[in-house]
Amino acid sequence: MLVSGPVLGSDRPAREGHVIRVFEDHESVSRAAAELFSGEATASVRARGRFAVALAGGATPRRAYEILAGHPFRERVPWHGVHVFWTDERCVPRDDPRSNERMAREALLDFVAIPEEQIHPFACGEGGAEEAATRSELELRRVFGEAGPRFDLVFLGLGADGHTASLFPGSPAIEEAERWVAPVRPPGSEFGRVTLSVPVLNGSALVAFLVSGSGKAGALRALFGAPFDPNRLPAQAIRPDSGRLLWLVDREAKGGLDVEDR
Ligand code: 6PG
Repeated sequence: MLVSGPVLGSDRPAREGHVIRVFEDHESVSRAAAELFSGEATASVRARGRFAVALAGGATPRRAYEILAGHPFRERVPWHGVHVFWTDERCVPRDDPRSNERMAREALLDFVAIPEEQIHPFACGEGGAEEAATRSELELRRVFGEAGPRFDLVFLGLGADGHTASLFPGSPAIEEAERWVAPVRPPGSEFGRVTLSVPVLNGSALVAFLVSGSGKAGALRALFGAPFDPNRLPAQAIRPDSGRLLWLVDREAKGGLDVEDR
């Protein structure tokens, strides 16, 4: 790790438990993410017998999932207690290459000993985003109960436009306060999406953004430097109520961002 500490230059004071860690490259970010997953899973299963994780889609986390599928994590993680969810999904058939479920299965889930009934994909594939959101929320209620989901760990990615999960700039889903899963219809897209809502994401015990590459430097700078406006920069809305927020970024994504070393 190159630097770990709060981000400077934000209009908001760094909050306790909100930390940025800067790594040399995508591979080191991915290794750190795998270590994080492993440590949190071990602690949660020991404490409560269960570890609930929500996985991000997109290209960035794929390597972390591949690392988790290999030695030593395949043997070390208490997979029997892991429950897997996703942060968001594209409403495409499950075997479509754009499916987040398919990506995580191919990179990780097909190689580790998680009981299939502990894998909880969004109910996409039949019907549209609206129906998928309703059915997916029922599954969350079944697993977590009426009190609502509390994920032990959430991985999130960051889009160059400041989106995260399927919370895109200007989308009404950013404001969703009641539903746990929101339908999303990105303008111009050939498929709908579903996403965990902001209150659910912020109810998590730990949220970790994985950010890599110079294409993300502008978004990161804006997130930490621009006034708070989640409608324009949805990732700004992610501020766990009582959980921790961790940014695992590489040197290219950090760009000129001022991180206080500690
Ligand atoms: C998705 C995501 C999305 C993603 C970002 C970053 O399904 O598309 O969950 O929010 O994390 O777009 O994607 P990359 O990692 O591919 O840059």
